[in-house]
Amino acid sequence: MSMATVGNISFEPGFPSRARLIGADPAPADVLTNLEPKQRDTVRELLDASGAVHFRGFGIRTIDQFETAAQSLLGQLAPYRGGDAPRRAEKGFVYNAAGPDKSRVLRAHNELSYAPWHPKTLCFGCGRPADEGGATTLIDGHRVYESLPPRIRDAFRTRGVTYIQHLPHAAGDPSGIKSWPETFETDSKDDVMELCQSSYTSAKWTPLGLLTTNRTPGTLEVGSDDRIAWFNQAHIWRKDPTITPKVSDMGVWETRLGYGATYGDGTEISTPDIEQVSATLHDCTVPVNWEAGDLLLVDNQAVMHGRMPYAGERQVFVAFA
Ligand SMILES: [Fe+2]
Repeated sequence: MSMATVGNISFEPGFPSRARLIGADPAPADVLTNLEPKQRDTVRELLDASGAVHFRGFGIRTIDQFETAAQSLLGQLAPYRGGDAPRRAEKGFVYNAAGPDKSRVLRAHNELSYAPWHPKTLCFGCGRPADEGGATTLIDGHRVYESLPPRIRDAFRTRGVTYIQHLPHAAGDPSGIKSWPETFETDSKDDVMELCQSSYTSAKWTPLGLLTTNRTPGTLEVGSDDRIAWFNQAHIWRKDPTITPKVSDMGVWETRLGYGATYGDGTEISTPDIEQVSATLHDCTVPVNWEAGDLLLVDNQAVMHGRMPYAGERQVFVAFA
């Protein structure tokens, strides 16, 4: 698709693709929540082809406007269940996308790629940009896959990744690891074990907390063209062996809390390989700068997202579907 104007919106393919409201409208947010069928089709087409669409000019500034817009674009919103980030719903299933430490880069990832369930689509919205920095970063997973040496990408594609997490019983653990009640948004041991046994590869209680493993693919086929995309969080979960030794030894895992990742068959991912992955991700990173009122739709299977460091009060909403 080339650049096109459909009604009062101009669409421009790219990474990310762009959608802009043309001319002044007394209620720009209503335009976005009441897209014409042809405009809706164009958004879907661009999202399928590029994996990300950046909307500007629709004035989605408040949490209420964001919730309405996200529901109209995504349909039913979903909770952030099973996630490793400290995150609380602000309204319904609208969350704050801030991330833990604003002075540091939030490394790009596919949302919940380590969990048995992940959202198909994400919607970000900017109530207020940071005073400085704070761009959301995007990485095209297909470009990553194509850029990696065949030996590494084939290993992830054919062997997958196993994610290991050992979560403490209570919030505020000195390890800084999110507890299982926080992770699963419930205090019920029975509910959590039922959920984990039905969806994780393994799950067990230990004196320290809840220990689970989850074997998943390391790549996915995405879009209507079934292109192969990088889809894993090994570069974040797989810590350096000096920090997390014996990552493939489940006996050792019973005695320490934390997160780890191995290949799907339980063998270690080597340090040079993970460094190559991180370097490739870095090379493929595209920043998206925010203006208040912007919206960003991301195909979570096709595209990774992260965040640059920032200063000031940045308000970015996120919803999952
Ligand atoms: Fe995220």
